[in-house]
Amino acid sequence: MAEMNDMNSSEKLLAPIAVFDSGMGGVSVLKELRKLLPNENFIFFGDSKNAPYGTKTKSQVLALCREHLNNFLREGCKALVIACNTATSAAVWELREDFPDFPIVGIEPAVKPAALSGEHPRILVMATPMTIREEKLRRLIEEYEDRAEIISLPCPGLMEFAERGELHGKDLNNYLCKLLSPYRDKILDGIVLGCTHYPFLKDEIAAALPYPVTFFDGAEGTARELRRRLEELSLSAPKEKKGTITFRCSLPGEEKEALFGRLLNE
Ligand code: DGL
Repeated sequence: MAEMNDMNSSEKLLAPIAVFDSGMGGVSVLKELRKLLPNENFIFFGDSKNAPYGTKTKSQVLALCREHLNNFLREGCKALVIACNTATSAAVWELREDFPDFPIVGIEPAVKPAALSGEHPRILVMATPMTIREEKLRRLIEEYEDRAEIISLPCPGLMEFAERGELHGKDLNNYLCKLLSPYRDKILDGIVLGCTHYPFLKDEIAAALPYPVTFFDGAEGTARELRRRLEELSLSAPKEKKGTITFRCSLPGEEKEALFGRLLNE
């Protein structure tokens, strides 16, 4: 496919939108994108070969993101969605600086709706160690900490369950019960799922606590932001056209493709 600059204006509207994650978690975002933008063509790229990103350094993740974006640009994609909280916190500012005219939408933990969901609620933000460490989340939490008690919880090892398609079972339950044991008595009002793999594990997270809790994730907000950017740039696909989804993964084999289909229909 040609690069965007070589396309005429109607070709540009039909160009695909790249959606990428360190692995399969980004499917939770793709589902919202598809719901809100059914006319668009999406290329989903899961970088499972390099997963997890959350325990790497910021510069390692930034280098991977730069490589992916260059590939998407060569392919003629018209926008990028970073369907990964970790990659967003490591790279979104730098990628926008590299390509100021190219629409890049990231995802961030849904701290705002969670913090505003009640009268000074107690909120737990579950995310990868890198997301928790990075400035982006720290700033976001600072903005809302007078409205809620916000507790950050790094969850190394949790994304791997979703990445292997292990959405239920004893090992996952043991992991979560141990991780969440301090919150059995310290009652939470809400949990922010700050990694795109975690929505697939929501039932098990809920089952590890002895009381009901409200969940928040950033997928819908990301989809709304992409729609806004496309409209602003007059890049939305024509309404009469049904969109497509193309799957790609940096790991060879059919296993991830099968998991992709399963997660997309969860
Ligand atoms: N799905 C990713 C996120 O939203 C990252 C998981 C990982 O690679 O550690 O943060």
